[in-house]
Amino acid sequence: MNRNVKELISQMTLEEKAGMCSGLDFWHLKGVERLGIPSVMVSDGPHGLRKQDEQADHLGINDSIKAVCFPPAVLSACSFDRDLMHEFGDAIGKEAQANDLSVVLGPAVNIKRSPLCGRNFEYYSEDPYLAGETAAAFINGVQEHHVGTSIKHFAANNQEFNRMSSSSDADERTLREIYFPAFETAVKKAQPYTFMCSYNQINGTFASENPWLLTEVLRDEWGFKGYVMSDWGAVNDRVAGLKAGLELEMPSSNGVYDKEIVEAVKDGSLDEAILDQAVERILNIIFEYTDHREEQAFTLEADHDLAKKIAAESMVLLKNDSILPLKETEKIAFIGEFAKKPRFQGGGSSHINSFRVSSALDAVSENANITYAKGFPANDDIYDETLAKEAVETAKAADKVVIFAGLPDSFESEGYDRTHMRLPECQNRLIDEILAVQSEVIIVLHNGSPVEMPWLSGVKGLLEAYLGGQAVGEAVADILFGKACPCGKLAETMPYKLSDNPSYLSFGDGKNVNYQEGIFVGYRYYDAKEMPVAFPFGYGLSYTSFAYSNLKINKTEIGEDDTVTVSVDVTNTGDMEGKEIVQLYISDQTKAARRPIRELKGYEKVSLTPGETKTVVFTLNYRSFAWYNVGIKDWYAASGDYKILIGASSRDMRLSGNVHLTAKKRLPIQVHMNTTLGELLADERTAGYVAHFKKQLEGIFGMSSEGDKKEDGDVAISDAMNHAMVACMPLRNVVSYGMCGKKELLDMIEKMNQL
Ligand code: BGC
Repeated sequence: MNRNVKELISQMTLEEKAGMCSGLDFWHLKGVERLGIPSVMVSDGPHGLRKQDEQADHLGINDSIKAVCFPPAVLSACSFDRDLMHEFGDAIGKEAQANDLSVVLGPAVNIKRSPLCGRNFEYYSEDPYLAGETAAAFINGVQEHHVGTSIKHFAANNQEFNRMSSSSDADERTLREIYFPAFETAVKKAQPYTFMCSYNQINGTFASENPWLLTEVLRDEWGFKGYVMSDWGAVNDRVAGLKAGLELEMPSSNGVYDKEIVEAVKDGSLDEAILDQAVERILNIIFEYTDHREEQAFTLEADHDLAKKIAAESMVLLKNDSILPLKETEKIAFIGEFAKKPRFQGGGSSHINSFRVSSALDAVSENANITYAKGFPANDDIYDETLAKEAVETAKAADKVVIFAGLPDSFESEGYDRTHMRLPECQNRLIDEILAVQSEVIIVLHNGSPVEMPWLSGVKGLLEAYLGGQAVGEAVADILFGKACPCGKLAETMPYKLSDNPSYLSFGDGKNVNYQEGIFVGYRYYDAKEMPVAFPFGYGLSYTSFAYSNLKINKTEIGEDDTVTVSVDVTNTGDMEGKEIVQLYISDQTKAARRPIRELKGYEKVSLTPGETKTVVFTLNYRSFAWYNVGIKDWYAASGDYKILIGASSRDMRLSGNVHLTAKKRLPIQVHMNTTLGELLADERTAGYVAHFKKQLEGIFGMSSEGDKKEDGDVAISDAMNHAMVACMPLRNVVSYGMCGKKELLDMIEKMNQL
């Protein structure tokens, strides 16, 4: 429909316009009946619909409609599968259309900075590239149905404690390289209809009133076109927010802030054009939805099957000492209440009222060889001797034992963070007791974030099911019995213990959270520290095996405007059909800046029958090689060599090649009295200006020139020390050494600054 939104806005009163910028209630936007502007509804999300009708609350206390609970982000990200995420989004879009929802509140793409964040189960990854690609695919799927998404929580909302007031204090490079790119990729590849700003402050300014974040970066740089809404109750200063680029306040503030907007326009402190623009952005999205209502024929049953498929294609097999898959004829004991009552989603605003939940026991109900013992409760940490004894006996009598362990609901949720990384004590204790009588043990984990695994070396199998959505039991059973070939890989590192995590000393501060680890988040840190981990990022086993060969890089000498095509052949060398996730990492060899050892810049999932080979292709561009340079406020890659690594995980590189980049972009020269001789000598543009100082200093210190260093031997002032002193010498010292007059030096500095 051709609409003239500007014309419509010109007919609205000031009060109506201000009113459009906040919710009608918890879930609806206001409409203006006389002008034909409908009131539309938004709803959580994102791994299912949480549409609440009556007595709305946003904490999931009141029941919402019966819906399908798909796997939460913690699991679906492990699929590393853009097509699957698109299919997932497509199903959500159809369900939303059928239920008259204009926007689904998600996906949530915050980076997993610490395993302790209570909401990690809703977030995709510790890696911004994976989070961005996953989100973009999901958003495109949803929005094909003209239903919006609200990518959240923008930005740097990485803990729950004091989330509504604390400040995430991170330097700009860290924000740009780690905490922003998932949002940026989503804008560039999928243009989400809406953004949800986070509760927290960023470096002392609330996200909800941060013009740099909401306008300069989001709109001016990335090109976002939709509207920004607040997280529920995230508005601190409404007028400042509107000016900064926060169009919609959610939920309703009962007219309080609408009045402030009206007053600000009247007293001239808010330009009415800003309000008009906000209303226009909101109306565009409302009409995008209402002008494209579609009849939807979705069924809960079919979506349940899709939820199962996503779960089975995402669960990660972490250990398999020839124990899996199980055979139907073996006597198997299922232990732990999670086998009967799986934990398949997390608590809080994403909680779905599932129309059906399948447990692993339900899924194997026709197999008479399976026994069950509760062992421990799913929702508590209580060691019960009778239950434990019975479980040990059941385990002893079986050929193989599957222990369904995991975190109870109370251990992790929206609203608060975990305080440790352990499983309930009762579970660890029972696992040890079973290991004492039975060597054939497999653990299935139901958790939203990594746990310490003190029993890891004793068990023969480990399946990370995370929170699997409502079809979790069927997916687990299919993998255990080999009906599905495991093909998920970890979207996060599993450290051995909490204190290994880079944010350990600064996570969870209530006021100013110091992101002191900078860009070294997740594997970027563990790899730089050469730290052993329980399981690395990108890791996951299969029932079949894959060989990598024939790496081809179409250009090895590249400029900034080139794209590079990398291809590699992958062969299924086992005897089961399976899928492999091939990962591409780049390692900067230029030493121009402190950078992670390697970073994920591409991945593809490929399905192969036994013996089959397929070629996987990746495309890289300048940005793939670049880091964010705050000096030039832009992405920058230095000239030099970069390794292209093809891996089966972040720590299992199978093939490698090299490209040499010649960059046009030069970092600006900023020379002052305290710039060191070393810096100036290292830059070909300035080296000529200062080379004679170095020569003279060599004479003064009686040192050799760099090329022919003397043996230092046992001397107090070594040649190496002299060289280091000269390299670290600030320019001002050439004056005090009598090598140059001050005026002469200042002139030289001015010249260099003009280069
Ligand atoms: C959460 C959001 C959610 C909103 C509405 C907030 O508390 O942080 O993720 O979309 O509530 O339920």
